[in-house]
Amino acid sequence: MGTEGDGHRPSPDRLTELLRHARAAARPDGFLPFDRWMDLVLYAEGLGYYARAKSPLGPGGDFYTAPHVHPLFAAAYAERIRTVRAAVGTDRPFSIVEVGPGDGTLAAGIVSALGPHLERGHTVHIRLVERSTPLRSTALQRVRAAAGPYEVPVRVADSLAGDGPFEGVVVTNELLDALPVRRLRWDGSEWRELGVVLDGQGLRAGEGPVIDPIPGRALPDHPEPGLVFEVGAVAEAFAREVADHLVSGVWLLDDYGLEEDEIVHGHPGGTLATVRGHQSGSDALASPGELDLSVFVNWTRLRAAAGAAGLVPVADRTQAEALGAWGFPALFEDAVRHSGGAEAEVRLRLAVKNLLFGFERFRVLELAPAGTAGRFRAT
Ligand SMILES: C[S@@+](CC[C@H](N)C(=O)[O-])C[C@H]1O[C@@H](n2cnc3c(N)ncnc32)[C@H](O)[C@@H]1O
Repeated sequence: MGTEGDGHRPSPDRLTELLRHARAAARPDGFLPFDRWMDLVLYAEGLGYYARAKSPLGPGGDFYTAPHVHPLFAAAYAERIRTVRAAVGTDRPFSIVEVGPGDGTLAAGIVSALGPHLERGHTVHIRLVERSTPLRSTALQRVRAAAGPYEVPVRVADSLAGDGPFEGVVVTNELLDALPVRRLRWDGSEWRELGVVLDGQGLRAGEGPVIDPIPGRALPDHPEPGLVFEVGAVAEAFAREVADHLVSGVWLLDDYGLEEDEIVHGHPGGTLATVRGHQSGSDALASPGELDLSVFVNWTRLRAAAGAAGLVPVADRTQAEALGAWGFPALFEDAVRHSGGAEAEVRLRLAVKNLLFGFERFRVLELAPAGTAGRFRAT
């Protein structure tokens, strides 16, 4: 394998190796369904976009997420987590499980804000489930440093399911939009699976018959010919995994997306986008392993999958509304009082404006196991 690319130019060895993996995973005719391609170019160990040593997150990376805008975002999460813990019972072991924590900014901010409220001998602990090897170690270091003063144990795990059933919260911020999707195209008489073709002529877009069954909610009825529709089968399976393991508590799911009707009518070519250097694009085959790929969450399908798995909504609202309900205004006023000068206050106000108005398509779904949801509906 070659050395790490500079983050903008693929190292030729890495690219060759990535394409070799893709060819090995392809069907005998060279066709590789899009979900397999997305999985490889984002996550292949040592090769994929998220497996690079350089973090894609934050101002120096390719994109930033809400936790990187200001620690008040995490502080609002901490407020919500306190109320969930009170409802679960503060005498019980309480897990904060973040899946896809990236560099750990959110979990570190949560424990910094939560720590001062924890009683001596508390049984709160944090589990980080991060697929990327370099990000996992960055996150572990960062969150352990933040948790140390409050004696909150922090560890990494390979999956949410690894420790069996638990009580607490599952946190996912911009995880689902980064999970591989199947892309289907209605050709006027049947759905076709979109993907890539790797054969003697190199890499190109292609399509084939739909072979694997499509789990979950039925596909749109009477689509317009040419409609490209993304199915987040991995995200929907993840909802089942949460339902199977979260016994009591709430899944705080923050992501960008649209309702299925809005996707079908507003995005007939699909919602897949690439990002590099804070610029978005649409060619998912360009610079494999060097671009982020993501899609809008289809809330209609996701809610259906969560509901079928036994999770019910405790709240379902925009990110700004959720922050408001979790005590953001009071946290903000407090931060203004302690900002320490006019310039810092202006910076704080700009960050807060971004958090409240810059994440327009973001929603927070709070999902809880059916039968326990009533306990968590306080906010
Ligand atoms: C868009 S980034 C968001 C990172 C972080 N949550 C944030 O908001 O800054 C998505 C993260 O999910 C991780 N990820 C993707 N699939 C995963 C999986 N199946 N299990 C755990 N982490 C995963 C990626 O490696 C990446 O760190």
